[in-house]
Amino acid sequence: MADKKSDIGLVGLAVMGQNLALNIADHGFQISVYNRTASKTDAFVAENLSTPGGLVGTQTLEEFVESLERPRKVIILVQAGRATDAVIDGLTELLEPDDIIIDGGNALWTDTIRREKDLNAKGFRFVGSGVSGGEEGARFGPSLMPGGKESAWNELKPIWEAIAAKVDADTGKPIDGAEPGKPVEGGVTCTTYIGENGAGHYVKMVHNGIEYGDMQMICEAYQLMGNLLGMEPKEMSETFGTWNDGVLDSFLIEITTDILQQTDPETGAPFVDIVLDTAGQKGTGKWTAVNALDMGISAPLIAEAVFARCISAVKDERVAASEVLKADVPGFDGDKEEFTQAIHDALYCSKICSYAQGFQLMREAQNEYNWNLNFGEISMIWRGGCIIRAAFLQKIFEAYQRDENLANLLLDPFFKSEIERCEANWRKVVAAGAIHGVPIPAFSSALAYYDSYRSARLPANLLQAQRDYFGAHTYERTDKPRGEFFHIDWPEAD
Ligand code: NAP
Ligand code: ATR
Repeated sequence: MADKKSDIGLVGLAVMGQNLALNIADHGFQISVYNRTASKTDAFVAENLSTPGGLVGTQTLEEFVESLERPRKVIILVQAGRATDAVIDGLTELLEPDDIIIDGGNALWTDTIRREKDLNAKGFRFVGSGVSGGEEGARFGPSLMPGGKESAWNELKPIWEAIAAKVDADTGKPIDGAEPGKPVEGGVTCTTYIGENGAGHYVKMVHNGIEYGDMQMICEAYQLMGNLLGMEPKEMSETFGTWNDGVLDSFLIEITTDILQQTDPETGAPFVDIVLDTAGQKGTGKWTAVNALDMGISAPLIAEAVFARCISAVKDERVAASEVLKADVPGFDGDKEEFTQAIHDALYCSKICSYAQGFQLMREAQNEYNWNLNFGEISMIWRGGCIIRAAFLQKIFEAYQRDENLANLLLDPFFKSEIERCEANWRKVVAAGAIHGVPIPAFSSALAYYDSYRSARLPANLLQAQRDYFGAHTYERTDKPRGEFFHIDWPEAD
């Protein structure tokens, strides 16, 4: 046990916990660590004997809590759900009033709201913080999305600001040599106070929903390049590499460029060709889509990205169906270079719609939960450290600088003109997908979203008439004020 009490403690030494603990220790903070399986703690501390701040291994929760400076700050990084509750229950037996528990796992925001209420009632403080960027982010600079009482955040702030990613605002490149705890001059420190109770975990969930969308859109571009243009992975890689120098500049395009260059060490074949086409999911994208449905907010691209994973998972059924459902579709005979540019533009326009949907969700949630979200700052803390980091986020920041009450990103002058510039190509790609039988649910649903959003009149008039016919659900009239409901006597249906 160290002579001095630790600045902070961390429970849960799996991949995220270990890397975050090392990041914290690297920034000069002494950190105590505890893991349910004590042998993991021993091995971790033995492997990392010399860090600037120092790691203190503890064998029991009692020893762990005793080793911390008061008010104690304890980060939990265990599996979301029951494991988090179990750890919280153990800690509350030992912590004292005003101590702070920080849940860094991928908690459902409603769990965070519940936990905060329970813990506050017992005199503890609680921060639910999204931690994004996977293993690499946790180790060298994640994007951190903390929610809870501001007094708790203020105590955590120096550590969170020290360990968060720091990037150049223009290039998105990491900035070296930043002082721990000091905002970086001319750059972005990828954490900010998000809001009360579950706000941080909500924003992290939307981040993951957007991430699902980004991944799916890139996959659709890849499929069009392969199925319609007959491009090989190496050639696709060159195209994605070129795209990464433009408006699509982002971490996911960058890694796609690398992945498509990779060969399989066993067979020498392009690596992507030997990867089975079934995707799993742990659930944060699904949570986002379910929440969109619950709140009645249109976020079809995020939902389509989740469904695309679902249908990918029924591989055997798809293989069998492919033998039966043989669509008679023509081959592609258009210009390859022009169509490649069209795919780029379709991806760009769809991405604008996807982010518009994500920000609509956050806008609605803030009304529902009484949060005061700063959408510009949220876009900036996603500029580094996380999976969706992209140059594009700077443009979203600028849009909210122009109008903090922007109803929809699509209405911002920059995004409006970008869509107008690329729209013809986007329509061309969606039409080509339909004509040639290539499934592009994200591109297509984004276009339907765009066309719906810009329609002064949608066919819901007929739908409402149907509801009135079969269920006397009433309708509003175009020639009477909103909120007045009517019903007519319909003839008996045959
Ligand atoms: P994980 O596999 O989600 O969790 C494993 C850790 O949880 C181990 O330390 C394990 O202890 C502990 N644990 C499980 N059940 C427990 C219980 N009932 N009581 C006490 N401890 C228990 O680890 P992870 O991938 O590092 O993720 C940690 C958290 O960060 C999760 O909430 C995850 O969703 C979130 N997250 C992960 C990533 C990522 O890229 N992996 C990114 C962002 C956020 P034992 O060693 O004793 O089994
Ligand atoms: P980060 O904050 O860095 O995005 P994360 O929230 O743990 O880290 O998730 C990383 C990404 O990998 C998410 O898109 C995640 O999807 P889930 O929300 O479904 O977990 C994805 N991911 C993790 N495990 C996966 C799996 N087995 N198959 C497919 N995607 C997975």
